[in-house]
Amino acid sequence: MKWTQAARYRPYQEWSEEYVKDLKRKITASKWRLNYHVQPETGLLNDPNGFSYSNGKWHLFYQSFPFGAIHGLKSWFHITSKDLVHWEVEGPALEPDSVYDSHGVYSGSAIPVEEKLFLAYTGNVRDETWERHSYQLGAWMNNNGTVTKLEMPLISAPPLGYTAHFRDPQIIQYEDEYLMVIGGQTNDEKGNILICRSQNLIDWTYRGPLALNQDLGFMVECPNLLFIDGKVALLFCPQGMDKSVLEYQNVYPNTYILAEDYIIEENRLEHPLQQQLLDEGFDLYATQAFNAPDGRCLSVGWIGLPEMDYPTFNEGWAHSLSLIKELTLKKGKLYQYPIAETKQLRKTKETFILEPTEQLRKTTNNCYELQLIIPKNSHGEIHLFSDKTDMYALILSYDTEEGKLQLDRRNTHYPLNLAFGEIRESLVAPSEAMRLSIFVDQSTCEIFINHGERVLTANYYPEENQKELVVKGTKNISITYYSLEK
Ligand code: FRU
Repeated sequence: MKWTQAARYRPYQEWSEEYVKDLKRKITASKWRLNYHVQPETGLLNDPNGFSYSNGKWHLFYQSFPFGAIHGLKSWFHITSKDLVHWEVEGPALEPDSVYDSHGVYSGSAIPVEEKLFLAYTGNVRDETWERHSYQLGAWMNNNGTVTKLEMPLISAPPLGYTAHFRDPQIIQYEDEYLMVIGGQTNDEKGNILICRSQNLIDWTYRGPLALNQDLGFMVECPNLLFIDGKVALLFCPQGMDKSVLEYQNVYPNTYILAEDYIIEENRLEHPLQQQLLDEGFDLYATQAFNAPDGRCLSVGWIGLPEMDYPTFNEGWAHSLSLIKELTLKKGKLYQYPIAETKQLRKTKETFILEPTEQLRKTTNNCYELQLIIPKNSHGEIHLFSDKTDMYALILSYDTEEGKLQLDRRNTHYPLNLAFGEIRESLVAPSEAMRLSIFVDQSTCEIFINHGERVLTANYYPEENQKELVVKGTKNISITYYSLEK
């Protein structure tokens, strides 16, 4: 299959059933399909969209191109859950079939209104000269899942002074009105986060760019304004941001800023703290979070990055969603940790105390959760996806004296995106014990330091013989190993 522009934007109804069947057959043979992460049945998944709770169910949608592992004509695919761990496939929810979204139903959010869910998204359109136009659009999903698009855009053009890179509306209820938080780009190619307001979800007025007084690169994608414990967290993906503002290695980082408050009258954050990386691993982007009705702030990210290559591209599928995480504040810092419900995945449990003279070596099915307590002032390694000779593995090196964790992706048969480096590092307080929680799933893993003080997400593509787990260190390590369900 040659992914010409025409093929990438071919209308959905022109793809034959036979083609999709073939694609499914090919994907079934993959050794990298995941066991407990949300992944696309076929094609490519990217941003999570419309994460919400309505009518007794959790709703989640994702950016989907179902016909190949390529960023083609996008739509929203819908899944639901009773427990945020086991997801039911509902099917396509918003397809690119109107004049306002003919070249892609792009990212957005959902907000419940009585029995219904209001979906807000960006319609991407290319005209005859392939010039981009973007519209902020709305749709209602009723309680039996039927979606009706609004006939007219909520916002039919970017504000004056902004380009058509204007997308990813997050709608939130704020005091007695609704706010829309959108990513934008000025005519001189500077990223901004734009705010609009509405009383009724349909009529919107532009409020202006959120004053942040710092470089936000050439474009901001997927902004989210959240409220945690009376404080504010702003999550966003700045593209092309100057590395002197914040050091990062991935093509584009997913970042956040914590603040005391959002001052709507002046459209600014009160006492913003230094911008930080949401994830210090290799593969996390487009995090979407929302203030759930149960009081938690819940988040989910895309495990993947734009503009990068992955070996599953040859197999006709790509990417997954992260575990659902709860965002909390502890001592003024943001923590992200898989929600308590994730424990439902645990099947069997084994515990060990590993002496410094020993090493743990265990053959796994690459589907497990590992909880480690590493004492202070020690160092050692954890090899995930290792082969028997230890030549190939995803290697975590820790040093609790310095308070450092390093993730090394060099020892692989499938080198990934080399231009962006193969090592990532996280720093925490020196001379303290470190707790590591590691979730491994076939070709991806999520690593949490100290219950979510730092997070590293990474894809890694093992060969069939890379199923060993190896742990070693200079002091006693307490290890709990859970096999997880498929
Ligand atoms: C981020 C993004 C969004 C856009 C969507 C298109 O990954 O580029 O800005 O809405 O993906 O799939």
